[in-house]
Amino acid sequence: MDCGVEKDIQKAVAEFEVLLREQVARNERIRKSRESAGNGKEEGRGVTIGLTAGDGIGPVIMKEARAVLEKLLAEELASGEVRLREIDGFTLENRLEKGQTVPDEVLTEMRQCDVLLKGPTTTPNASMNTKNLESANVYLRKTFDLYANVRPVSIPEEGIDWTFFRENTEGEYALGSRGIRIGDSLDVDFKVTTREGALRIARAAFDFARANGKKRVSIVTKANIMKKTDGDFLQICREVAEEYPEIETDNWFVDIMAANLVNKDIRNQFQVFLLPNLYGDIITDEAAQIQGGVGTAGSANIGRDYALFEAIHGSAPRMVEEGIEGYANPASLMKATAMMLAHIGYVEKAERLEKALDAADAKLGPKMTGLPGGGTCREFADEVLEAL
Ligand code: IPM
Ligand code: MG
Repeated sequence: MDCGVEKDIQKAVAEFEVLLREQVARNERIRKSRESAGNGKEEGRGVTIGLTAGDGIGPVIMKEARAVLEKLLAEELASGEVRLREIDGFTLENRLEKGQTVPDEVLTEMRQCDVLLKGPTTTPNASMNTKNLESANVYLRKTFDLYANVRPVSIPEEGIDWTFFRENTEGEYALGSRGIRIGDSLDVDFKVTTREGALRIARAAFDFARANGKKRVSIVTKANIMKKTDGDFLQICREVAEEYPEIETDNWFVDIMAANLVNKDIRNQFQVFLLPNLYGDIITDEAAQIQGGVGTAGSANIGRDYALFEAIHGSAPRMVEEGIEGYANPASLMKATAMMLAHIGYVEKAERLEKALDAADAKLGPKMTGLPGGGTCREFADEVLEAL
């Protein structure tokens, strides 16, 4: 064997040991945080909402989401019960300039908020001829330990009301930037399931089902192939399911679930989905597309002490390059805004926003093509504001 390859293997074995120890420690941290008290936030202190626009179409859709928040929370903003805090500098340019996925000063500001409404951020990649920074989404999910990615999709006229619980901190994402190359002949990436990580997302999904009168939770894996990581994920979810005997639990492989979602005869029978990270990423884009496009879906990233709300889609840099960013659909970020309002306790306002979104959608939805000639971001926002 050539000695370069031999050296790479030795280095890889040492690195693998480091990775394993880190992940064992992470599992232990999750266990301890489960046993310790909550986030200790004082009652009556009000809530600070961070707003960070991101890249591409981000500033365009954030402007409208902010207008909606200002209208809905007018009284609370005036009294100081709610504070909006604009966080600048979370742009691709600044991130590249600082060489940091989330520049320190941006992270410090984020930490000073209770929740964050985030516009899409572009992930730098090798083709950009720059430092290959980690995805900001992935970094923030890990940093704030936002383990539950909750993504609702509904199509009332078809009787579809789906809620996806995607595990958000492990799977292929835990070590996605830490794969190993041996010589020029072999690449290996790692996928991680921890017991504690699977337990907490399973509990989140079943608790949600119980609290919302859902009758069925569907676990989605590829446990026939990924026998350890998906095998354990499935096993742990089933264990948790036993604590919820009133809820029917079934399990599917991800390939057939992808098919099920386009099968109109059965798809409206699904209610809550419980998935590891990467399958959740893929299946929720499919579900959003069925709902009317990724521009129509919001996403909540929830942890024990922090929560971040965003659109399900990316920053669409192509729309900006082509000068058509004004046609971006703000519904996605507005849905995330509604989820955020419910999360911080303004349930009635969240419902009002959802109704206003439905009204705007009924009027303009099909016109929101993202293309010239279609409905614009402004027009859509005006409909929502008027319906509020
Ligand atoms: C999502 C996105 C992210 C993901 C990207 C931007 C890293 O696709 O939130 O679904 O893969 O999770
Ligand atoms: Mg995705």
